[in-house]
Amino acid sequence: MKVTVSLIKADVGSLCGHHIVHPKQLDLAKEILEEEKRRGILIDYYVFNCGDDLELLMTHGKGENSSEIHGLAWNVFKEVTEKISRPLKLYAAGQDLLKEAFSGNIKGMGPGVAEMEIDERPSEPLLVFAADKTEPGAWNLPLYRIFADPMSTAGLVIDPAMSGGFTFRVVDMKEGEYIDLKCPAETYELIALLGTPGRYAVERVFRSSDGLIAAVASTSRLSFIAGRYVGKDDPVLMVRAQAGLPAVGEVLAPFAFPHLVAGWMRGSHHGPLMPVSLKDAKCTFFDGPPRVIGLGFQLRNGELIGLHSNEPADLFEDVAFNEARRKAMEIADYMRRHGEIAPALLGPEELEYTGIVKIMEKIKSRFKKIT
Ligand code: F6R
Ligand code: MG
Ligand code: MG
Repeated sequence: MKVTVSLIKADVGSLCGHHIVHPKQLDLAKEILEEEKRRGILIDYYVFNCGDDLELLMTHGKGENSSEIHGLAWNVFKEVTEKISRPLKLYAAGQDLLKEAFSGNIKGMGPGVAEMEIDERPSEPLLVFAADKTEPGAWNLPLYRIFADPMSTAGLVIDPAMSGGFTFRVVDMKEGEYIDLKCPAETYELIALLGTPGRYAVERVFRSSDGLIAAVASTSRLSFIAGRYVGKDDPVLMVRAQAGLPAVGEVLAPFAFPHLVAGWMRGSHHGPLMPVSLKDAKCTFFDGPPRVIGLGFQLRNGELIGLHSNEPADLFEDVAFNEARRKAMEIADYMRRHGEIAPALLGPEELEYTGIVKIMEKIKSRFKKIT
């Protein structure tokens, strides 16, 4: 059976600064999606948040880039903004809605989108990741480890179904172009791009032997759309697992290393990506550190099967990730001791979208030639 899974998210305002989505925002989003499910537009949905980002996970039969589904998501973000964020005077109400009117495709309008139309397998484990206070390139290192590093994913060595390797679709987010690179043959070229996560990010991963979609991520950069700093893009990612794809544990293991990502306070700092449970998906310390949550589902004819009351498995709730969290806080403290000095602070290319440009402008005329 063909099913489309759409994960569309936006920051449309939050409680106590850029901290956490308000329960009333979640409730209204659920109410609207429940009605769309009743009308038969959606097969199923799950509404959640990662910090100040409202995340809509939807399944349906309308394919990728469906204007009906994109329009529905845009409408949810608009309604939540007008009926909850603004009346409650939540912070940065409607922040990610960069365009006035919906014009058929939500991509390029502010919200982040990850979508895949798949042939649902006899059993389909689906992992859904969302991050706060970082950018799409944050997935580069874990996706490389999951799908291209045989020292991390044992299946690349042990499972014959994976020995043909995986193809990475990498997007140049600045130029709006993409390239497909087939690994292991083009591993070095892949790493050459992934090493610049501010510009290049993985949009999709395919199993090379049959083209099966294995992963899909959001790759829009708000600053490239708006031409100024709006907020970080706070990306999402979906990964299919098992039976000829990396096992759930092989997908999760790379997140035990809290690697440095761009974002954090004012979208201007490098900080560790900390894997947390749903209840800990809220950024506090220096507006961070950047966080990632992981949710586990089984698909059943497009239905999102979870645990009690159909809640997904909260994958990073496990004690196995305690050490990663402890290490992340140690790294966070170490990075903060650098204050506002690079590489704790991002490089000039990234900062050109922030307010620091105005500060530089102000003092520019006072520079004198060295004689
Ligand atoms: C990062 C983020 C926050 C804000 C910071 C300042 O993505 O959203 O770190 O940049 O809290 O926010 P303003 O300028 O709105 O006071
Ligand atoms: Mg915010
Ligand atoms: Mg956010």
